[in-house]
Amino acid sequence: MHKSKIAGIGMYVPANVVTNNDLLKYMDTSDEWIQERTGIKERRYAHRTEETTTTMGVEAAKIAIERAGITPQDIDFIVFATLSPDYYFPGCGVLLQRAMQMKEIGALDVRNQCSGFVYALSVADQFIKTGMYKNILVVGAEKHSFGLDFTTRGRNISVIIGDGAGAVVLKPTEKENQGILSTHLHSDGTAAEILAMYNPGTHANHWLNQKVADFNENEIGDMFMSHDMIDKAQNFPFMDGQSVFKKAVVKFPEVIMEALAANGLQTTDINMLIPHQANLRIAQFVQQKLKLSDDQVYNNIQKFGNTTAASVPIALCEAWEAGKIKDGDLVCLAAFGSGFTLASALIKW
Ligand code: ACO
Repeated sequence: MHKSKIAGIGMYVPANVVTNNDLLKYMDTSDEWIQERTGIKERRYAHRTEETTTTMGVEAAKIAIERAGITPQDIDFIVFATLSPDYYFPGCGVLLQRAMQMKEIGALDVRNQCSGFVYALSVADQFIKTGMYKNILVVGAEKHSFGLDFTTRGRNISVIIGDGAGAVVLKPTEKENQGILSTHLHSDGTAAEILAMYNPGTHANHWLNQKVADFNENEIGDMFMSHDMIDKAQNFPFMDGQSVFKKAVVKFPEVIMEALAANGLQTTDINMLIPHQANLRIAQFVQQKLKLSDDQVYNNIQKFGNTTAASVPIALCEAWEAGKIKDGDLVCLAAFGSGFTLASALIKW
């Protein structure tokens, strides 16, 4: 069985920088509140018509593929993680395959929100291990700015979120002491509704134990999107921030410790932890709990906000480009997000 290694990595963020003060035009908030609670100073927003989740993924993929020393035609499988797809269906994977003129390879979309990239990496890792594929493109990309509630009603989540993309090429490695050592995936569906976009969807409030006001149970179709749903802002992300925070600070360290334990390693063995960039306070809490030094953790939420499925590959790419990750280093990726989902990966670089 082969291990897989990250052979190339790339990232793309839109040029449009949106500061905390820029958000004051739309909602009642402040630079002080946002920085104090989240650490975020600014984020990027995609061009409204010229950039999509897929086009940003393509830009990140081009860099990752070039750095892997291959061409788009050499890619034999795509795994694309996003919660803000160009279309409800089909997924972004096929749009990327078309845009990059790749062969008629398989393309899989992963819907695991902030844990999406680590889930996608884990899926790709299994395909490499079995020998089924040799050059897998794994992408995490998001264009959130198109679907946020920019009124004061939606401020708790809208100020956190940013757009961007990251990508890696996974290849088999023959080297004994290199590659993905293990991945660990978890979910807790009991908390599915604490961080979610409820509509459009097919649930008709089944899980919310509420009646949809203008819904006639005897009619067929037509309830994909209703005035009631829009009045209740259910077409925007909803977040019970405190519940998410409380869960994250307990579960996030657990999934990191699980990865270390599975490989007989300690926190002191970690050269670089790349935590999902959800909130700087959560990352700092995890760092303290695991007694990691500043040099062992990379954060860039200050510049890019929370880019959900793109946050881990963007932070990994930046850390690598800055020379903070070198050959032989032990890198831990860890993420939590809507679902509630959790994921970690340990990589010997
Ligand atoms: N600006 C100003 N005030 C605000 C804002 C804002 N952007 N957002 C909320 N407030 C106000 C609230 O209205 C409330 O006011 P009140 O006391 O008068 O009622 C007050 O601030 C406190 O609100 P809380 O929601 O209790 O604020 P909290 O301290 O919990 O911080 C935060 C909110 C930063 C969102 C925090 O809960 C958090 O970080 N949660 C986890 C977020 C996260 O990691 N999400 C997962 C990823 S996102 C994703 O997957 C899409």
